[in-house]
Amino acid sequence: MSINWYPGHMTAARRKMQEDIKLCDIVIELLDARIPFSSSNPDIKTLANNKKRLIILNKSDMADSKVTESWIDYFKNQNIMAIPIDARVRKQTITITNAVRETCKDKLERDKKRGIAARPIKAMIVGIPNVGKSTFINSYVGKTAAKTGNKPGVTRGNQWIRISKDINLLDTPGILWPKFDDPEIGYRLASIGSINDDILEMRDIAMFIIDFMQSNYCNVLKDRYMIMDGLEKEFILGVIADNKKCVKKGGEPDIDKAAKLLIDDLRSGNLGRISLENPESI
Ligand code: G4P
Repeated sequence: MSINWYPGHMTAARRKMQEDIKLCDIVIELLDARIPFSSSNPDIKTLANNKKRLIILNKSDMADSKVTESWIDYFKNQNIMAIPIDARVRKQTITITNAVRETCKDKLERDKKRGIAARPIKAMIVGIPNVGKSTFINSYVGKTAAKTGNKPGVTRGNQWIRISKDINLLDTPGILWPKFDDPEIGYRLASIGSINDDILEMRDIAMFIIDFMQSNYCNVLKDRYMIMDGLEKEFILGVIADNKKCVKKGGEPDIDKAAKLLIDDLRSGNLGRISLENPESI
């Protein structure tokens, strides 16, 4: 698999993000809880250099909670706090406020020691497309938050939203592009719909999911599609097509339709809470 996946407009977006990050004290990186490694962009380490970092494991309602716990430990070992949430639930997003304060407590103490009135912490959300940045900002900000408007010295066009008396959030998120030189990362991103469906073949994505499910969640395929134990991988889409009535006009099994059905079932949570990678697998 060889994919040129860095659209031209991203260069400008990246430059803008670099400027925005300079204005912030903390970068809040949204990752998909089902693939925290594959949904991250290694460039963030350079982009957020010298800034505090907080990780949000979003869509954790769709991830395997045990695996999510092991990711939290994984990041903790790197001195980064990671918090699992469902960004659609406001109550969960506001728990981030304390984590932001905790992560920036050195800055708050430094300000205090210098005798300067504590300036609000400036935070910014970053993440790859579809990870839930807009959803998070909408929930977190709620209806009551006030836009603080443009400020002198702040890049024109930037709006800060007052989350609390001590935290301001930049209202536009930074978009990171996923990186996947490794085909496995590409398939994980494609499985959850984080890259366009025309980049990889649907059948290949489906085969990747089948392989993964057989090794990690072996009962799921059996329960949902009545797949017999021991059935060889290459026959599984055919059986799904038969059992789920995916047929072409002449009555022939429609393998492409079965592949799409399987992918849609994974993406919509019909296969249950599935994590596609754990810290040991990366
Ligand atoms: P982005 O700004 O990072 O590109 O992502 P966005 O907020 O648009 O979210 C992408 C999709 O993910 C949306 O679904 C959104 O509802 C869903 N989503 C965001 N956070 C969570 C979460 O924590 N859990 C779950 N289960 N879903 C989440 P959509 O189908 O594209 O749009 P919509 O029909 O929900 O509006």
